[in-house]
Amino acid sequence: MELRERVHADGLDQVIAAHTAISDVDGERGRLVLAGRSLDELAEVGFEAVVTALWQAGGVAGPTEPAALSAALGAARVRADRELRARRDAWVHLSDPMDALRAAVAGLTGAEPVDLVATVAVATAGWIRTRADAPWLDPDATAPHVADLLRLATGTAPSPAMTDALARYLVTVCDHGMNASTFAARVVTSTGSDAVSAVVAAIGALKGPLHGGAPGPVLDMLDAIGEPEAAHAWLVAELAAGRRIMGMGHRVYRVRDPRAAALESALAVLERHGAVGRRLALARAVEREATTLLTARHPDRALRANVEFYTAVVLEAVGLPRGAFACVFACGRVAGWLAHIAEQRACGRLIRPQSRYVGPAAA
Ligand code: COA
Repeated sequence: MELRERVHADGLDQVIAAHTAISDVDGERGRLVLAGRSLDELAEVGFEAVVTALWQAGGVAGPTEPAALSAALGAARVRADRELRARRDAWVHLSDPMDALRAAVAGLTGAEPVDLVATVAVATAGWIRTRADAPWLDPDATAPHVADLLRLATGTAPSPAMTDALARYLVTVCDHGMNASTFAARVVTSTGSDAVSAVVAAIGALKGPLHGGAPGPVLDMLDAIGEPEAAHAWLVAELAAGRRIMGMGHRVYRVRDPRAAALESALAVLERHGAVGRRLALARAVEREATTLLTARHPDRALRANVEFYTAVVLEAVGLPRGAFACVFACGRVAGWLAHIAEQRACGRLIRPQSRYVGPAAA
């Protein structure tokens, strides 16, 4: 049997790697629970409220009220800005934004959770500004985190609708069970290593196109398709060439990813302000066509839109460049990583899975 088939047959990815009170992904029913509340409910309460809930669930030492977290993040953005400017030669020139983000975080020493959240946001904005040949702006310590992130990245004060849409996106992606980057962070933490090392490992995992790198290619796909009428022929040719359709399929969900629905609430906000228009209509048409084609190809394996599909449309509409989408994902997910790092540290047990030897027997 081929190695790939053995892995599938053994269901090796179904192993329980941790006990957690942070989030639960129910792949059969398409439900996501974060710190005991459903994603639908949390999308309404704002970024700082969700992060404090996750951090309390994971046992992160730090602010327990959204207003206190907002103030702490504001001060941390100012510190991060100073620090990242001082060593900008070490990271901002890297052409891949996730390489730049990894290097920016790797240079931190002894960082508190708020410093890590702030560094990911300020470095993402700094890289975007540098690529756009635009000057960096100073963080506003009194602004809410998401509004300031968007202003630092785009150079203009965002409208409430833009901020609301980005906040809904960041809440939607801030944690998602034992995904690859969270697992990487927990493995590193379980060895007794520090939070900066764990977040660097998580960024490395998130960089891959099968995890956080899909939304940029989703926009490339929408550009290549151009018009809803062209979707069928384009997708058929892509599948015939043996390529995967970006933004479709998921390791855990057997129904549509509930985060895709949550992002529709962000898109509804933007639609009311005329910020998405034709792009959204095209995305919906491509999703419909891709679902039909993939269902015909894999009738036993529901391949539906995942979070990345509509992420692409939301992030483009709020004015962020597609090259940096994975970094913006990290701006939200870093909150979840930090909750898991604290929970893993409290558990105090080394993660050491086993492998099944399929090589030749020793003579
Ligand atoms: N387009 C075309 N075919 C796909 C597909 C996609 N997006 N996703 C899965 N498949 C195919 C696989 O090639 C496989 O076919 P095979 O058995 O003939 O080799 C079959 O469907 C079953 O795949 P599965 O085992 O369910 O996929 P996975 O769990 O290994 O992969 C993803 C999950 C997310 C990595 C995968 O669906 C994918 O690559 N999607 C595109 C990238 C993406 O959107 N990533 C973001 C994830 S949030």
